[in-house]
Order: sequence, then structure tokens, then C-alpha cells
Amino acid sequence: MTTASTLGSAASVRHLKDLPGPRPWPVVGNALQLDRSRIHLDIERWAAQYGEAFRMRLGKREVLVVSSHEAISNAMRDRPEGFRRPSGLARIIGELGMAPGLFVAEGEHWQRQRRMVMAAFSPTHIRAYFPQLKRVAERFRGRLDKAVASGQPVPLQADLMRFTVDVITGLAFGQETNTIEAEGDILQQHMDRIFPMLFKRLNSIFPVWHYFKTEEDRVLERSVHEVVQAIEHFMREARARLAADPTRRAQPPNLIEALIVASEAPDSGMTEDDVVGNVFTMLLAGEDTTANTMAWLLDLLWRQPQALRKAVEEARRVVLPFEALTMDGVGELHYLDACINEAMRLKPVAPFRMLEALKPQVVAGVQVDAGTMVWCVSRHDSLSEACFEAAREFRPERWLEEDTAAQQGQASVKRVSIPFGAGPRVCPGRYLAMVEMKLCLGMLLAHFDIDSVDTPDGQPAQEVMNFTMTPLGQRLRLKRAVAP
Ligand code: HEM
Repeated sequence: MTTASTLGSAASVRHLKDLPGPRPWPVVGNALQLDRSRIHLDIERWAAQYGEAFRMRLGKREVLVVSSHEAISNAMRDRPEGFRRPSGLARIIGELGMAPGLFVAEGEHWQRQRRMVMAAFSPTHIRAYFPQLKRVAERFRGRLDKAVASGQPVPLQADLMRFTVDVITGLAFGQETNTIEAEGDILQQHMDRIFPMLFKRLNSIFPVWHYFKTEEDRVLERSVHEVVQAIEHFMREARARLAADPTRRAQPPNLIEALIVASEAPDSGMTEDDVVGNVFTMLLAGEDTTANTMAWLLDLLWRQPQALRKAVEEARRVVLPFEALTMDGVGELHYLDACINEAMRLKPVAPFRMLEALKPQVVAGVQVDAGTMVWCVSRHDSLSEACFEAAREFRPERWLEEDTAAQQGQASVKRVSIPFGAGPRVCPGRYLAMVEMKLCLGMLLAHFDIDSVDTPDGQPAQEVMNFTMTPLGQRLRLKRAVAP
């Protein structure tokens, strides 16, 4: 699909080589001018300096950087035909001996997997899973209670990860895992090593690890091996459950069983490796994203007492008594919903997207060749005063007053801020993520008062990029809420 706004008129089409951009160095291009852990900030700064479309070079690779939300949306919608995810990602995953799951697959392979994964994440499935979600939230409440009793601050991001890990492994494996109450979880420790290393390799201009393996590389390979072994163990258990109760085949109650049943269909085109690849994908895609978003939101709420008061008031009205809370009740947390959306506008865990052009085409008025990397600075317009009043302020109300804002000629916040992506590859876990975040944060705000959210040096948490944008060093102090 090529739309008017991606095209531009023939006369106004520019060529990548004519665009402004930071001066590249010989051989490495601009790669060494970027700090990997702050790469999103460096490129946002360049976007402010060089404009809506500029060029940079990473090693041999020419990159078009675009920041207009319309151009980004159009490119994301033009998949799988016009754009793919960076081919480097598929190569890196393949080198590690992993089958490409949904995030990495392309073309027909992607289409087949997408249908199946979407079915596993349907609202009906999430509703069926809700009682288990609530049990995980209850356990998390117990962990917070212990922290309050001990007077210790909660390491915010790490503890929220325990919650999301238990949610995702329950859904993916069909078994309750309990990282919340366990002190160290081996599987999770392996996952924690894999994400930053994949990001590092993806952004390397030369595959040093092909020629020389550091200890870090060996640890990565061991961790991938361990996770694959664990998934294969869960697959054996899932197969045993399916054999013991064949009625499960008609409506598999979890992702792993759904994928196994689908892969066994005669013309599925799905292999056993595809099942492993997709379970792996869910573990990677579903944990940091959701935990980081919640951590950012608690930080923003703490700095905005009026919004915090409103969110607390709503949570106590809707969530309590927790035992009676239903999925429909979670749907009534409208203000919290707006807070989450506003946190994802200011602190999106994926503040940029990388796409690779599959054919020669015009992007944001710039002619690119097949194979060109298009770097989408998706947070640029979200923080722009040209789009929103007080764009850098945390104002959840803008999501509740969207119609009024649009009447006053402001941009539609829903169109500009697209934290879950857009088009055919939009995040399939978004519905689960929203339910999960509202349940966890609703529980926390209903049962506890926030004493502080700070960092060891007293500064706002730094944004560190390691595949997802992670807050560094946040500590949460809580008190038990006085019963109304
Ligand atoms: C706050 C939480 C989350 C955020 C902000 C988020 C964000 C994203 C984004 C930006 C993409 C890329 C979309 C695109 O290319 O257009 C994506 C893709 C994906 N997400 Fe999420 N995600 C979240 C939670 C989850 C969860 C809970 C799961 C599943 C357990 C999940 C699974 C996936 C998968 C499998 C893809 C690849 C889809 C495809 O390529 O077809 N995500 N997500």
C-alpha cells in the first residue's frame, strides 16, 4: 500500500543522499557518535537538529531517519509487502539456533503464525485467564506487604518484572510459576541476559562474535540454550496434558497447547521449532515492556500529586474488595487507563522502530532503495508542542478529553502516540498488557499509599535502552493504606 502522504509530489521527492545529517566518520559512519544505551535520546536530538527526515550511516548502511507520525504510521501499515523488520534481527536470532517467532518472522511464515497468536490473545482467552491473573496480583500484593513490614524500599522495575513473568509464563506455559515468592528464578535470570545482548548485536556495525567470542557471548549462548531446554520441558508437559485429556484440543486453554495443536495440523506449515520460537517470543516481548511501562507510570504519578489522588480515589472505589473484582470491574478503571496511555506517550518502552524497505519507494517525501533502513523516531511528535499543548507534561486528562482537543484543532493523541505500533503487525499482546497493568496498578493504589519513588542519587530515573526503554534505579516506598 502506498498512500498520498508517503508519496509526495514527484517534484518534491528528495533523495537520501541529498538530506542533511550528522557528518559520518570513515568506515564506521555515525555509529561511534551514538551511545547504545541512550541511542534513542541521541537520535531524538539529531531529529530536533536536522528535521523531519535526515540521513545517517551505521557502518556501511545508509539509514533514513523520519519523525513525522503520519509517515511512520504509513510505513508501519505497509507491511508485510513494503517493509520488514531489520533483516539483521532474523540473522542474529538464527545464529543463536532459534526459530523466528512472530516478532521476527516475515511474509507468509509471519501471516500463518500471526493468526494463531492473535487467537491465543483474544479477549475471550484473556477473560478465561483472569482468575489466574488475579492470583498473581494477590501474590504480588503479599510481596509488597512484606516490603512494607521490613521497611525496605521496593526495587521497582525488578519487582514488577516478577509480576509480568508470572503472568506471561502462566499464559504461555499453562502452568503457574511463582517468581514473586521465590528469591531467584533461573529462567528469568537467563532471559535478563538475552535481551540486552540481542540489542547489542543488532546495533553492532561488525559481527565481532563471528570471529572472537567474549565471555558475554558465551553466557548469551548458554542462556539461550537453557531457555530452549526449559521450553522443551514445558512442551513435553503440555503434550502429556493434551494426551490425557483430548478435549483440550478443541479449545486449548493456553498458548503452548494452542501452538502444539496448530503445528500438528497436516497443512499448518508450523514446525516444532516454530512453537519453541513463539513461546520464546512471548517471554521476550511480554515481560519488560509491561513491567517498564508500570514503573514509568508510578514515577510520573508520584511527581503529579493531583493525578495520583484521582487514580487512588478511582482504584479504591472500583477495585475493593479485591476478592470480588471482575474483568468488567477492571474495565471501569477509566482514569487509570488514561494514566497508562499518558505514561506510554511520554515514556514509550519502544521509543523508535526500525523498518527495512523491501522495494524502492518514497518515505516521508524521500526516495529510498530496497534494503534501506528506515529509523522511525516515534516519540518525536508525541513530545512536540506543534501537536499538543504542554506536550512534555503528564496530563492523563488529554486522553479523556480527546474530542474537545480535536475540536480545538489539536492533534489526536491516539493517532500520534502509538505505543503498541500500527497496522498488521500491531502488538498482539496489547489487550493483555492493558488488563494486566490496570489489575496490578489498581491493586497497588487501592491497598497502599505511595511514600516515595526515587533513585539512589535523587535524580529522575534515567532512560536506558536495552531493547526496551528501561528506568534505571527506581525505588518505591509504600505504606499500607488506612482502610476507609
Ligand atoms: C506495555 C506493554 C507492551 C508494549 C508497549 C508493546 C509494544 C509493542 C510494539 C511497539 C510492537 C511492534 C509493533 C509494530 O511493529 O507495529 C510489539 C510487537 C509485539 N508484541 Fe508487544 N508490547 C507490549 C506487551 C506485549 C505483550 C504482553 C505481549 C505478549 C505476551 C507482546 C507480544 C508482542 C509480539 C508477539 C509482537 C510482534 C507482533 C508481530 O510482529 O506481528 N507484547 N509490541
